[in-house]
Amino acid sequence: MITYNEPIRTIKLDTPHTSYVLGIRDGGFLLNLYYGRRLPDDDLWSLSNRLPSASFSPSDPEYTDFSTDVAPMEYPTDGRGDFRVSALSVRGADGDSVTDLRYVSHRVFPGKPDMPGLPHLYADRDSQCETLEVTMRDPRTAVEAVLVYTVFEDCDAIAKHVRITNRGGQTVKLECALSSCVDLPSMGYDLITLWGRHAKERQFERRPLAHGLQGIRSKRGSSSHNHNPFAALASTGATETTGEVYGFNFVYSGNFTITAEVDHNAATRIVVGIDPAGFEWTLAPGETFITPEAVHVFSAEGIGGMSRAFHRCYGEHLIRGRWKEEKRPLLINSWEAAFFDFDTDKLISFAERAKELGIEMLVMDDGWFGKRDNDKSSLGDWFVNEKKLDLGRLIDSVHSMGLKFGIWYEPEMISPDSELYRAHPDWCVHVSGLAPSIARHQYVLDVSRPDVRENVYGQMREVLCRYPVDYLKWDFNRNLSEAGSALLPAERSGEFFHRFVLGTYEMQDRLTRDFPDLLLENCSGGGGRFDPGMLYYSPQIWASDNTDPIERLNIQFGTSLCYPASTMGAHVSACRRTGYRTKGDVALWGTFGYELDPNDLTDEERGIIKEQVAEYHKFWDLIRRGSLYRLICPWDNDFVSAWSFVSEDRKEALVTLVRMRRQEETLLRLKLQGLDPDAVYTAEGTGGRCSGALLMYAGLDLTGEAWDDGESCKIHLVAE
Ligand code: DGJ
Repeated sequence: MITYNEPIRTIKLDTPHTSYVLGIRDGGFLLNLYYGRRLPDDDLWSLSNRLPSASFSPSDPEYTDFSTDVAPMEYPTDGRGDFRVSALSVRGADGDSVTDLRYVSHRVFPGKPDMPGLPHLYADRDSQCETLEVTMRDPRTAVEAVLVYTVFEDCDAIAKHVRITNRGGQTVKLECALSSCVDLPSMGYDLITLWGRHAKERQFERRPLAHGLQGIRSKRGSSSHNHNPFAALASTGATETTGEVYGFNFVYSGNFTITAEVDHNAATRIVVGIDPAGFEWTLAPGETFITPEAVHVFSAEGIGGMSRAFHRCYGEHLIRGRWKEEKRPLLINSWEAAFFDFDTDKLISFAERAKELGIEMLVMDDGWFGKRDNDKSSLGDWFVNEKKLDLGRLIDSVHSMGLKFGIWYEPEMISPDSELYRAHPDWCVHVSGLAPSIARHQYVLDVSRPDVRENVYGQMREVLCRYPVDYLKWDFNRNLSEAGSALLPAERSGEFFHRFVLGTYEMQDRLTRDFPDLLLENCSGGGGRFDPGMLYYSPQIWASDNTDPIERLNIQFGTSLCYPASTMGAHVSACRRTGYRTKGDVALWGTFGYELDPNDLTDEERGIIKEQVAEYHKFWDLIRRGSLYRLICPWDNDFVSAWSFVSEDRKEALVTLVRMRRQEETLLRLKLQGLDPDAVYTAEGTGGRCSGALLMYAGLDLTGEAWDDGESCKIHLVAE
């Protein structure tokens, strides 16, 4: 709900458990008065006016009792006395970048405005959400910024973006156009972020805020393995279950910044948006730039509460299409089984063995097109390598076994050794006078260009129209360097990175519209583009090329800070660190599948896999719709990780524990969360009965269970 209090000029945005309050001060300064636990409506006046003294701080000559230097500014700008990190910087016709936005008007309406070309949260019905638009204007540059806030009635999420229009007669340049700023009146927080690298994505990191700047960014052209576009501010001492936690996630797949700055008043500003480094956008008179969206959640119930708020929000308002609700086919992928070394018969044999195990889809990974037998050629030549493969026969056989069929693409890349590159050398991302850098023997294809997109998407469409494909894995295996496009004029070169991302979105949009039944899985050398932008188009993303179940614990726990279980591609592979049971228990958390040669399994392994397939079906609903509780996090100890999924009605729970390292002590009482304290739960298999209260307050006694290195156990609890 969004309410305006005219006498004190505050606008209050309420979600079920949170409030966000804006204040309009004399002079049109828009202030960020409060964000946190839900407030009543009647005493907001007390939030409004006091500011710390500001002896060196500049003021507008008409409003000398006020300085932007010390005020909690809602959308701070450059050059007008606020010296902290700013959200907007406009270089006007005079050549300076002084920008001064003032409130003009606001309106509230049901539903959410569209964001053409950009991924965003959505509501099925206008009644599910409400939007506030605050119009701000800089009289000098004639730039108008409409701050757009959407409040979702069924979850504690607020989405923000900004529409910036040049209302003047002269061209201006945006040098920084961020999506959100939140100013908090304290520095008593830890910054939580997810760092990583290839095969080690989304590793939890927590550090206390200090005065000055701290944060994360990507300049790699994609959201990256290295930093996920997510951050949380957790009140000092907050745990999984206690304390106040703010979560910020950027719905974008390119360069980003999330920066926190603590000022001399021990106040914290946190901004989210496209990284200003390398960004510049020309706005001719009448033109508009729309920033990507930032999602905000707040939890008074610790880090776990924040995660569940994100999960609910993304499950309902980000994931779309047929596969939002429908059970995803349990797949086997050819990559770790065969790499490039396959032909029609080998893949048919995979499908035959997989069928015997109950697996539902065969995915043919990299190596089916052009003349690709290794990673040195053919990206861009998206036609079947007929010397290697009879794709028609393969798909017919797979379908006739009752299995679905999936295919791999890497549409935004081009190999120097490809027909496409030989025909169009200027289609790769490059700048003049410099040979483009190479990574994994490939260049990046310039998908900021409509003609390039048309060609590549056209090639994909031809294959997908000719062959009945059920699933597509969209890969992206390098970072961008020499970021330039032959089509962009010099004065617009700062637009390249964003135009590249918009190009990717346009292609994924076309793909999902043209083939609405296709299950799309994004991937970027594992989880190098695991972000909400990608999730808008594909309900699942391959979480990591690392399929070792112990390493996966950190990756999956980290990913779960803001992304729901149903989005995490997780497969059982032939890696040897643990047995198949543990591999299956860990992969069951995500969109389950296999990544191994099914001809190489022992009878015992085949037996275990059949049980896992049955468990996948049995627990799909609980995992997809239930709430995730991180019970023991791998970053808190070296020995044990544990988590559970609890059904919405709290009548069912699946608890999983993995012993990362053998521990010479025996006592293990695992305190569960999210159960009904008054219900009595029975453990499937053993028949043990315990109250929810006992399981949560005293703990489930797992002493002696999963005792050795790499062992795991699962307990399925059902309320009577
Ligand atoms: C990287 C992906 O993460 C792998 O799963 C596989 O698809 C390879 N690329 C293929 O080149």
